Amino acid sequence: MSSPPPGAALATTTPPSLPGPPSPVVLILPPSIPDNGTRTAAATPPPPPSNSTTLVALGMGIGIGGAIVLVCVGIFVIWYKRRKKRLRLGGFAYAPSQGSKDDPFHAPQYPWQHPASPPSGNIIGEPPNPTLPLGISSQSQSSSVDGSTKKTTFTFEELLLATKNFAHTNLLGQGGFGYVHKGVLCDGKHVAIKQLKVGSGQGEREFQPEVETISRVHHKHLVSLVGHCISGIQRLLVYEYVPNNTLEFHLHEKENTSINWATRMKIALGSAKGLAYLHEDCKPKIIHRDIKSSNILLDENFEAKVADFGLARLYSDNDTHVSTRVMGTFGYLAPEYALTGKLTDKLDVFSYGVVLLELITGRRPIDKSQHYLDDNIIDWARPLLTQALENGDFDTLVDPRLQTEYDSVEMTRMVACASLCVRHFARRRPRMSQVYMFC
Ligand SMILES: Nc1ncnc2c1ncn2[C@@H]1O[C@H](COP(=O)(O)OP(=O)(O)OP(=O)(O)O)[C@@H](O)[C@H]1O
Ligand SMILES: [Mg+2]
Repeated sequence: MSSPPPGAALATTTPPSLPGPPSPVVLILPPSIPDNGTRTAAATPPPPPSNSTTLVALGMGIGIGGAIVLVCVGIFVIWYKRRKKRLRLGGFAYAPSQGSKDDPFHAPQYPWQHPASPPSGNIIGEPPNPTLPLGISSQSQSSSVDGSTKKTTFTFEELLLATKNFAHTNLLGQGGFGYVHKGVLCDGKHVAIKQLKVGSGQGEREFQPEVETISRVHHKHLVSLVGHCISGIQRLLVYEYVPNNTLEFHLHEKENTSINWATRMKIALGSAKGLAYLHEDCKPKIIHRDIKSSNILLDENFEAKVADFGLARLYSDNDTHVSTRVMGTFGYLAPEYALTGKLTDKLDVFSYGVVLLELITGRRPIDKSQHYLDDNIIDWARPLLTQALENGDFDTLVDPRLQTEYDSVEMTRMVACASLCVRHFARRRPRMSQVYMFC
């Protein structure tokens, strides 16, 4: 007797009234079960569902499901890594600093020296735009920042139009790097356009990424770089326009009136915050190298905005911690930087200390009318600072234009702060965040 086909056996053994799905046994019945004569199609009861086979099927299901989940996770990980890599391309992260591990500020601890908190609250602009194109182009370009489209690269013709051919009537001034003209862009934005002196700066390859880095730095107390222009050997920088001239102008050039004490305090505090941001919140940190009263611009409310940060790098010849070309201005140079070219953020702290001395005394850093040895503000002020802090008498130090109209507690703080900032040894000067916490 030959074995019935497996399908036939099933057809006869499955009760038609059985509810539920077909038994999984169907799938695994071996076609070659030996027929021993006792087993007939009609007599063979339907085999009960086997536990082991159910488990196998269940296992297969779980296996397939698990594999799908794994594939999904893998795809997500690859996407996430690529996205992170893209973000890093900007080369400029803005994570608040955790603070220097080797804070070399060995000055005695004053009650005002709270642990520094990053001045991030003052960040008003957009976060760094990591997707800015880093390619080189001298054509007009726009970049998308925060959903809005901002133009960052200008053609020379656009800047000619903005400044009415660099008309003399639009000339704002001239500094060590070149002429600055006022301009109005086609979208109506007021800007200050700096034409860098031809020949001494960087080539296009170094210039482009450097300015793109600077243009990503935004802070309430820093002058923003709106964009730039490369045209042949010409290099131009387009800055936001700051309408109320410089601190130098208000302290030393404006006749008859001078800024009052409250305004001086506000300017000291604002510029300290701007500098602290460059030193402690930007990665890599930006050392200004040319802090001075003419690089502190003022808006209509006399809020300070530090100008020209990052500019020194466009003219520097190397990236190391020692610069072979000292950038800066006489009267503001930290001794170690002037002598060795050593680049640390403490050289900015020293220059900032000189600005504080200008605010306190109303004097210029170098007084050309004085022919004595102490014709510079630091040599003149040092003994007076110590004396004033000891006896609380500021008369010999304070700008005569202020008369007695200043808050003596605030004056004491500013005098103490100036005295710490202009310390001879860089390691003993405070960090900028410590300075603004004090002010
Ligand atoms: N963003 C700006 N908004 C308004 N005026 C500006 C702006 N930037 C510069 N100026 C004006 O242009 C003048 C010249 O600036 P510039 O930076 O070239 O010279 P500086 O600050 O005196 O010296 P340095 O070249 O060493 O920075 C300034 O004194 C200021 O009056
Ligand atoms: Mg300047």
